[in-house]
Amino acid sequence: MGAVLVNTRDNPSFDPVGIIRAKRDGLAWSPSQIRQLMENYLAGTFAEEQMAALLMAVVWRGMAFDELAVWTEAMISSGRRIDLDLLGRPTVDKHSTGGVGDKVSLILVPLVAAFGAVVPQMSGRGLGHTGGTLDKMDAIPGWRSDLSPEEVVGVLSEVGCVITAASTEIVPADRRLYALRDITATVESIPLIVSSIMSKKVAEGTKSLLLDVKVGTGAFMADLAEARRLAQTMVEVGEAHGVRTAAMLTAMDTPLGSAVGNALEVQEAIDVLSGAGPDDLRDLVVAEAEVMLGLAGIEGDPGEALHDGRALQRFEAMVRAQGGDPHAPLPQGRKLATVRADRSGVLCRLDALAVGMASLRLGAGRSRPGEQVSMTAGITCEVKPGQSVTAGQPILALWGDDPSRVGDAEEALAGAIEVGDSPPTLPPPVLERLGC
Ligand code: URA
Repeated sequence: MGAVLVNTRDNPSFDPVGIIRAKRDGLAWSPSQIRQLMENYLAGTFAEEQMAALLMAVVWRGMAFDELAVWTEAMISSGRRIDLDLLGRPTVDKHSTGGVGDKVSLILVPLVAAFGAVVPQMSGRGLGHTGGTLDKMDAIPGWRSDLSPEEVVGVLSEVGCVITAASTEIVPADRRLYALRDITATVESIPLIVSSIMSKKVAEGTKSLLLDVKVGTGAFMADLAEARRLAQTMVEVGEAHGVRTAAMLTAMDTPLGSAVGNALEVQEAIDVLSGAGPDDLRDLVVAEAEVMLGLAGIEGDPGEALHDGRALQRFEAMVRAQGGDPHAPLPQGRKLATVRADRSGVLCRLDALAVGMASLRLGAGRSRPGEQVSMTAGITCEVKPGQSVTAGQPILALWGDDPSRVGDAEEALAGAIEVGDSPPTLPPPVLERLGC
């Protein structure tokens, strides 16, 4: 994976600049160098700006599989591991590599738990132009993600599912690296994505896992071969840690569902949990739920549990158990602008990356450390590719509280929409499956 030369100099005294230089120059780290740098980073003796430089070197040089295994292990060991064996029930989780409008976890976690599986989801915040499950759930008044390991186990034994964050106790290394990668353009790297996701999944204690590896313009892997390599690497790391791991490669060229942005996406997730919502989103949720139930050894019809209210009940119970009020009104922004079709025809392209960037610029994501995200900012897609439009018909609505952001958001949307004469060939939602 990129690095070819081996740096045999294994210096027991910590040399932060030498470690960065080694990766910059394409050398592989020794296991003790990796452990040292992670320990020093957590202790504050490997500075944030040094880690930023090192992450950029990893983006360019990659890591050999052995380095990745030690790096991931060091991240897991940065905190505690949760033991879920005492719950005596099958455990299964899912993680997405990140997309635009990807609110699947909000629906899938309670849906699978409604069949008796334990779903201990440790999620992330927005990363780059993609939204994060935790930022979305934060739109629910009172809801808390910062649970202690004991609270996680408590919620799981009461409700069967939880959505929680890496914390100072569980994978603190990912909590810090994730935030740093978000603002230093160091997200798009197979070893950094693999270690970020798999450290959380191993530490949370799940015994089986479905990975949703997004492919397309709105994903961190635009190329199918790269996405396949990412999926295979995560499956290998999962299996090496005794986690039964499967992966689906799913299309991310256009936003998933209709809503992009934190509170907007929670509302759409609740719509699907109530038996409604957009078809593309519901179909993907059902396909992923079927695989997760298979991994957990449970039989059931996920579509039915979306219609009969079982999944919604479980979602509300989870929100309550985490301090939230599932019936409190969600924050609502104003419609700030509308993007319209410039001609009649068929919508051929609605670019996921552009919509994700525009949503971020409206305030739904971060571009500076510690920036507060807006719960109300975002975009609704009034039309999806393949549908007919007439000239002047609204295609996108831009939402939020800050009209001064609209100009930048509209700039991000330049060239994102294409209306043509004949229907586009749309990719199937699930492109490939590994170990499902
Ligand atoms: N999700 C994560 O948790 N980490 C990544 O790096 C990408 C997606």
